[in-house]
Amino acid sequence: MIQKLTFFLLFLALGTSAKTICPKGFALINGNKCLNIFSDHYKHRDAETKCSEFGGTLVTVHNAIDNTAVANFAGAAVAQYTWLGIFCFGNDTTQCYSDDGSGALGYSNFVPGHPKIDGGLGGCVYMQTYGPAKGKWYSGPCDVTRLAFVCEAPSTVEDPTCTYNYNGNCYYPSFGMKYSTNLNATFSDAEYLCNYFYQSPLVSIHSRMELDFIRSIFKNNLRGGFNKAFIGAKPSANGDWEWTDNSKMNYQNMDPVNEKPGKCLVMDLTADRADNGMWSRMDCTKDTIFACKKKIEVPASVEMEVNPKFKAGTPAREKKAQNLINLADMSHCNSTLFLAPGVVTSFDYPSKQAPPTFCTWRIAVLGAYRLGIYFTDFSLGDTLKVYDEFGNILDDPHGTRAPYGKLAPTNIITMTHDASYDAQWSYHGFSATILPYV
Ligand SMILES: *[C@@H]1O[C@H](CO)[C@@H](O)[C@H](O)[C@H]1NC(C)=O
Ligand SMILES: *[C@@H]1O[C@H](CO)[C@@H](O)[C@H](O)[C@H]1NC(C)=O
Ligand SMILES: *[C@@H]1O[C@H](CO)[C@@H](O)[C@H](O)[C@H]1NC(C)=O
Repeated sequence: MIQKLTFFLLFLALGTSAKTICPKGFALINGNKCLNIFSDHYKHRDAETKCSEFGGTLVTVHNAIDNTAVANFAGAAVAQYTWLGIFCFGNDTTQCYSDDGSGALGYSNFVPGHPKIDGGLGGCVYMQTYGPAKGKWYSGPCDVTRLAFVCEAPSTVEDPTCTYNYNGNCYYPSFGMKYSTNLNATFSDAEYLCNYFYQSPLVSIHSRMELDFIRSIFKNNLRGGFNKAFIGAKPSANGDWEWTDNSKMNYQNMDPVNEKPGKCLVMDLTADRADNGMWSRMDCTKDTIFACKKKIEVPASVEMEVNPKFKAGTPAREKKAQNLINLADMSHCNSTLFLAPGVVTSFDYPSKQAPPTFCTWRIAVLGAYRLGIYFTDFSLGDTLKVYDEFGNILDDPHGTRAPYGKLAPTNIITMTHDASYDAQWSYHGFSATILPYV
């Protein structure tokens, strides 16, 4: 009798829980991974861009069971090799990182002698999916080799009425709202409309992947000349921002060099800006497009977070007092690998009497992204050089400059700064924010 009762209760519990599904085109593998195979052969960067449109990355592998599942999945589609969502910054697996932001690899399955990063072989990683070396990993040149690839995206919760369903939430862009294809509104009207039509707040954003999903909703759907969408943020009591849906502010993508005023936040969607998706302030009483977001139900899978928490905080000028606390650490001088997002500064910044030191930095973002460097404060003699991954000069700035950004072609840059003469010429150094872009 007791056994029967237990069974009945269990059945009830299963019957009432929402159904976990994968995004359209993705298959649920091992009950926890949503995968989609693309048999067209792409370079690594283009494959990552494709995956980002689904709010995902190239597939990540954390154990032997995942590894076999990915090999079987890709092998079944007759793709002998597939890119993986892993990038190595050195010849050792401790220098390899997963696209999902989970840190240095715990599990790996490289063939002997790999990972191997030298001239010809980049930091990208691919897997053989059938044959004697099935499941084995190799280093490959990211910008040369074209391979099939497997994207991974978070699972979600079934809701037949939802067009833009991602990670347990339904997104409602203003262009798809009732009665109008080019709806635009002030911030408070946008809030009203979200609530009126969907009983939902404006969108909050909690990871780079979610940001990419929202970018892809608006891509090809911008109308009326609007290229900025309100997001559901408002100034908080401590001078930062908080989400109007009361969720945790655990991710930010503020444009470090946009200092326009305003008490609302918009997300930039400019089509021809490679690093679009950044947030900046805007006047709340101006009209623009927007998106609402409503929780369908908490999905069974754990939410993935690409970017470790990154706070834009206050502009460089107001930050100077804080910088005095731990100068050496702020500068990250002589980092052999500084994994952004984050901030690097000149040594002893912003002192006008900085010692005549020499610093180098090797700065990177995860392999799923490219790297943008944004100088929020710049005051240097001709003493700083920024190089791309291949050693070509990316930027050679000098003097006193207004805030500006520079986009690297890949996910790695190096910088050198010879501060010998800066103090002598009364320059106070630089502060640079490093962010990923797709
Ligand atoms: C990796 O090893 C190769 C030799 O096999 C060497 O040429 C290369 O510089 C090493 N790369 C790094 C990043 O240490
Ligand atoms: C803004 O939205 C209104 C509807 O509320 C519409 O009539 C108007 O054309 C839109 N403006 C633009 C520039 O699309
Ligand atoms: C950084 O490394 C260079 C070369 O090894 C060294 O000359 C310099 O003093 C170092 N900088 C600092 C601030 O320690």
